[in-house]
Amino acid sequence: MTDAIGVGLLGLGNVGGAVATALLERAAALEERAGAPLALRRVAVRDPGKARDAALPPGLLTGDAGAVVADPAVDLVIEVIGGEGAAGALVRDALARGKHVVSANKELIAKAGPELFALARAHGAALRFEASVGGGIPVIAPLLRDLPANRLSAVRGIINGTTNFILTAMAQRGAAFADALAEAQALGYAESDPTNDVDGHDAAYKIAILASLAFGARVPPEAVAVEGIRALAPQDFRYARELGYAIKLLATAERHGEAVLARVHPALLPERQPLARVDGVQNAVQLSGDLAGTLTFQGAGAGPGPTASAVLADALAIAAALAAGAPPPWDPGPWREAASPGPGAIETRYYLRMAVPDRPGVLAAIARELGEARVSIAAVEQRETQPERGTAELAIMTHRARESAVDAALAALRLLPEAHAVNAVLRVEDGP
Ligand code: NAP
Ligand code: HSE
Repeated sequence: MTDAIGVGLLGLGNVGGAVATALLERAAALEERAGAPLALRRVAVRDPGKARDAALPPGLLTGDAGAVVADPAVDLVIEVIGGEGAAGALVRDALARGKHVVSANKELIAKAGPELFALARAHGAALRFEASVGGGIPVIAPLLRDLPANRLSAVRGIINGTTNFILTAMAQRGAAFADALAEAQALGYAESDPTNDVDGHDAAYKIAILASLAFGARVPPEAVAVEGIRALAPQDFRYARELGYAIKLLATAERHGEAVLARVHPALLPERQPLARVDGVQNAVQLSGDLAGTLTFQGAGAGPGPTASAVLADALAIAAALAAGAPPPWDPGPWREAASPGPGAIETRYYLRMAVPDRPGVLAAIARELGEARVSIAAVEQRETQPERGTAELAIMTHRARESAVDAALAALRLLPEAHAVNAVLRVEDGP
């Protein structure tokens, strides 16, 4: 029998608990797949005194994560702590010791990926991170392994399970934002700081990773234009439905020549589009290649089971290579830094929701400002909101326009005495 591969697990929370349970309960099946046993040697947590669901053999749990990484019996470190601080130091330490690492940490990979890949390369170690994007959906391995002959032009998707769960609950059940978020947290979908989900940063880390891999040029997370979902109001879902659209937190990265434009924001998607029907915790990633065309990968984007599936796929790939005496599997390679054309280059249709006085001339004044900025109106809906105060709400759908033109129109509309407020500005993505 091949020697066991010693596993050190860092973190025993939502994901770590499911990984530990699978390693223990499926040991025989995993050994058969890897060609060597995967032996869980030690598990590090912040608070070893805390009650846990995962039933571990005695003596495995410790509060000293550094000792797990340093343990000579640990060949493979699985990092499911999250964040860049402690987790980053532990991953660097493991790679510097030549230990292989599997991480679900999108923040760390997005911020420090190139440095970590270089460290792994220098020490003959593997660093894999399938679970960092799309939970249980295999997307990173197919991107690197199966599409290298393509020139990819775009990556788009719904890549945050928590916000998709919240938006679906708000659209389909009329749920309040806070209740839907609490439900997503209880189901183990949310980040330890859920503002990372709600404000779009988690999706920004993920699109930064996907874009860097797809285009072979590093897109740092700070180059991603980000808007979260907090400003959405119940009436936006109603207008969207009436106009034939769903609202999703969409992440996109597109080539503009050799530059890459990456963004995360809520968007209206036509109901006929497959992404508009990706609901609940489901995620979907679309990759557009010049040879393969558009491919869509869909599945559970968060949650302990799906994420453990992706973590263990990486662990098995490394274990199988070690058992076969092969070099550690793939390395994304060095990346040049991608240039960004800036958000002014975005061109889509737009949905605007405005509070206006309900009197003659208002619509004409608004249409004039939009027209002067060369933004053309495609459809308008007006609702009386407070008839006693003569206030109405306008939902305007524009034709395609440059973001820079829409920004100029919005600046003018905000000064217009005929408008009380512009309460929502959402892009409309007609895409594939
Ligand atoms: P979590 O439930 O908050 O668990 C984090 C674990 O890390 C806890 O067990 C915690 O210990 C431990 N920990 C924190 N600081 C530590 C330290 N300094 N040393 C040792 N252990 C430490 O988080 P999670 O939801 O499992 O997520 C973990 C990672 O997976 C994150 O990178 C996340 O982005 C990623 N991810 C999560 C999902 C998901 O659906 N949840 C999906 C894909 C990727 P205590 O238990 O003692 O507090
Ligand atoms: N918090 C993340 C989400 C976990 O909701 O998508 C999966 O990466």
